[in-house]
Amino acid sequence: MRTEHPKMIKLSAYRLPDYLIEETHLTFELHESYALVHARLVMQRNPSLDTHLPPLVLDGQKLELIDINLNGERLSAMEYTVTDKHLTLQPTTIEFELDTTVRIEPQNNTELEGLYKSSGMFCTQCEAEGFRKITYYLDRPDVMSRFTTTIFADKQNYPILLSNGNPIAQGEDDDGRHWVTWEDPFKKPAYLFAVVAGDLWCVEDTFTTMSGREVALRIYVEPENIDKCQHAMNSLKKCMRWDEEKYGREYDLDIFMVVAVNDFNMGAMENKGLNIFNSSCVLAKAETATDAAHQRVESIVAHEYFHNWSGNRVTCRDWFQLSLKEGFTVFRDTQFSADMNSDVVKRIEDVSYLRTHQFAEDAGPMAHPVRPAEYMEISNFYTLTIYEKGAEVVRMLHTLLGEAVFRQGADLYFERHDGQAVTCDDFIAAMETVSGMDLTQFKLWYSQAGTPRLVITDSYDAATQTYCLQVKQSCPDTPDQTDKKPFVIPLRMALLSQQGQSLPLQLQGESIAMKGERVLAVTEAEQSFIFQKVTEQPLPSLLRSFSAPVIMEYNYSRDDLVFLLQHDTDGFNRWEAGQQLSLQVIEDVVGQLYETDEPMMDSRLVEVFTALLAQDDLDPAMLAEFLSLPSTGYIIEQYEQADPLAIHQAREYVSNQLAYALKEPMRVRYDALRKTSLETPYVAQASDIARRRLQNMLLAYLMRTNDLDILDECVDQFGVADNMTERLAALACLVNSPFTDEAQEALKRFAERFSEDPIVMDQWFSVQAAAVVPSGLERVTHLLEHPAFSIKNPNKVRAVIGAFSMQNTPNFHAEDGSGYAFLADKVIELDALNPQIAARIISPLTRWQRYDLHHQELMLVQLKRIKNSGELSADLFEVLEKSLVA
Ligand code: TRP
Ligand code: ZN
Repeated sequence: MRTEHPKMIKLSAYRLPDYLIEETHLTFELHESYALVHARLVMQRNPSLDTHLPPLVLDGQKLELIDINLNGERLSAMEYTVTDKHLTLQPTTIEFELDTTVRIEPQNNTELEGLYKSSGMFCTQCEAEGFRKITYYLDRPDVMSRFTTTIFADKQNYPILLSNGNPIAQGEDDDGRHWVTWEDPFKKPAYLFAVVAGDLWCVEDTFTTMSGREVALRIYVEPENIDKCQHAMNSLKKCMRWDEEKYGREYDLDIFMVVAVNDFNMGAMENKGLNIFNSSCVLAKAETATDAAHQRVESIVAHEYFHNWSGNRVTCRDWFQLSLKEGFTVFRDTQFSADMNSDVVKRIEDVSYLRTHQFAEDAGPMAHPVRPAEYMEISNFYTLTIYEKGAEVVRMLHTLLGEAVFRQGADLYFERHDGQAVTCDDFIAAMETVSGMDLTQFKLWYSQAGTPRLVITDSYDAATQTYCLQVKQSCPDTPDQTDKKPFVIPLRMALLSQQGQSLPLQLQGESIAMKGERVLAVTEAEQSFIFQKVTEQPLPSLLRSFSAPVIMEYNYSRDDLVFLLQHDTDGFNRWEAGQQLSLQVIEDVVGQLYETDEPMMDSRLVEVFTALLAQDDLDPAMLAEFLSLPSTGYIIEQYEQADPLAIHQAREYVSNQLAYALKEPMRVRYDALRKTSLETPYVAQASDIARRRLQNMLLAYLMRTNDLDILDECVDQFGVADNMTERLAALACLVNSPFTDEAQEALKRFAERFSEDPIVMDQWFSVQAAAVVPSGLERVTHLLEHPAFSIKNPNKVRAVIGAFSMQNTPNFHAEDGSGYAFLADKVIELDALNPQIAARIISPLTRWQRYDLHHQELMLVQLKRIKNSGELSADLFEVLEKSLVA
């Protein structure tokens, strides 16, 4: 808890560290009611600076200092000062050794940062600034040290004792305790440190690296989960091979360990050689995890593994550079997932997510650049902008440089900076060296916040066969930033003939035409691209594969959109045309609903969906994407001031109309897919995933018709499915239907069967919390009383409170403000336990400016109530401060 307002930390205030820590020798004595941490730090004055010796200021929070020695001499109380954030003392020699012993209470740590207990095991989370809650240290990523770690604990309860690197010694004491010493040969910043102690079982495998070294792979879990590790292990081996083939990166230790813990603030953590995962991101088997969960495990295992190079071997100089490792690593994991599955489907999923959530962040009070200039609490900056937009920035570089040159740039970056803590500028500099390009203007993507807008118009002159694209770009003001400079925007495009064929692309001044598609580099506020020898009036296919994270406007007619949905040669743009068409149809209905209960829906949507359903050669994965309407969240983002209830109602109306109109062909298709599913054992591979996705989507449409025959099918799918993908989808259909008896029965059976599995129960919770049927708040309040719910477990908080406020539009945005008041109550309660989670779960309220005045009022009342509720954490304070000034 805070006594004064947290201060802004500024990038411009960066200074080299005064001292360095060559070696870090840690000893943990773990007990049930306390832990002792002894640290021996071999330190020196930073040789890059002068030889005068300023005071040494170590970070440390919530530590009880028991003992302190400098060069073997105990310091008297006069020789150091301790505050709630620092330990300060005066070194007397250029090189010195500092010994400290502190006492901490992991069993009372509900913040899940530092050393804490989760389901009976000890574990750590140090990124970003958790290490200072373990011992006094220079807790900043540009201080890199060689670590040895010894852990003492009771042998019975904690047979497994793990830390980074390789085990080098172990032993037993006579009092039932044992110990293990680990040594990590690689220098690392403290945020990559980890310790685990518990009663864990492991699944083991090996991987032979490209140079022929054998690496032991171990996934540690609680004994009851030992049958849910194979998918993560397969994913690990795949991504290790992929990183060798695609980036030439080889693993560097003899052991790679993954540990699953139940209480975790984020998805997973890339600690050197000892990744710690939220158990929901490792455990997966057919009966308990959906296809989406299997894919999430695959991509997160890869993400954390890829950090071994992009993050660990080459790390960040300071936390302003966070996207250096996160943006690049997300880009790498999306490339991997695209290679393992369908690249177009993966791109569609990523873009939907980016446009719904990151664009909202960029348009709201928390907007910040990919490289922020300042922050109060770094934990608040693990954002969609740092991760997802950061990955888009790397992807644009990849597009502009091309695959081969980008790879050379990555190689040079790793080679130049191995073992260093560097900046985003260093990454760009490597790309400049290999490409010969000047990327100065490109770097505005790192410093300017906000989503750029591209407005594109065109004209065709049949007489001269010239076609002109006029492109205008602009970027809205964001907190503290106005008058932005033009970005470098890669615009991937093609021109389509009336038959849907790509026309040759020859810009004025060029002597030969390019076939297919090309990437135009938009660099000015206004710019024209004139194509010659264009033999007919073309239809442009623009921003293909979403080549830049921008909002693009081009005035397509609805018939154009129908044409593109059926004929564009870029799969992503086919989907995008369908989304724009559906969006317009839903927006029509939003307008009409204020006047009538029976709006007129543009018939073209039904017609084109009918045609798509009849097309036998269409990939089921693509068909499923084409049939899914834009999410309510995405539609809300299209309005200056959205009426969330009208938007929800309109989207429901359009979905229902489609369901009734397409009932016959949907039923035929559903039956065929269901039959195949019944005959095929579950495999989490792209083609089967596509089949189940289409099957479940059709079931959801069909259930909207309230047909009793389909209800039977749904109940049957729920009951007989051999996998969670089909079972959960059927459950969601029932819970969102008017058939409350069937829904209750299914919920009961599901809970009986899976009550012992917390990850599965999270899904049971969130399906109910997200159900868009009346009395949602009552149901959610009831769920909080369920014995399987715990406010201390972030997965449970996300499953109930998160699902309700992010997915349950009609209930969360209830006219009486009850949904908002509920969220505010929970934020206040959580802030006292886990500030990081409180500051995240509040985010739907921070988006108040996006809504109509009535909803704005109601949200602001709750934000102010939280602000005045008493002492707030730095995390929550910063979010409220920014949301309320906007
Ligand atoms: N580096 C981690 C990742 O990208 C992020 C992370 C895990 C994290 N746990 C955290 C960040 C806790 C802040 C706090 O995968
Ligand atoms: Zn990461």
